[in-house]
Amino acid sequence: MLRVSFSRVYVFSASHRLHSETLSDGENESVYDKCNNLHGHGHDYKLEVAVSGEPDQQTGMIIPMPELDEKVSKVLDRLDYKHLDKEVDYFKKIPSTGENIILYLWNELVKEIGGSRLHHLKLWETNNNSFEIGKGGL
Ligand code: NI
Repeated sequence: MLRVSFSRVYVFSASHRLHSETLSDGENESVYDKCNNLHGHGHDYKLEVAVSGEPDQQTGMIIPMPELDEKVSKVLDRLDYKHLDKEVDYFKKIPSTGENIILYLWNELVKEIGGSRLHHLKLWETNNNSFEIGKGGL
């Protein structure tokens, strides 16, 4: 049977400061520019989660929407309204760039949804900046 994909968008808010412990202060400033501001800044992140698979014969769905919402919320609640670098252990040692946040979300969501069903993620940090990870075709 053909595989089908289904996408749903979620939002969360978080603050951070882009800073790498392995770079000097001057290097941090030149790499991250104003995102290196000592006191940090915040984003309203938007996350598109795509799952794929064969629809279940009984429900006609890849995953029931309440189940998807519960699993995604469990992961996003760890970031929502947090200062990522100060409150989320994963980002205490690595910079909370969009690239690293989407890698974190992929790994955490695979644990919840399963690697065979999680298909693709797209994370908007701003209207102009977005990050993607996942499988190419269906
Ligand atoms: Ni930022």
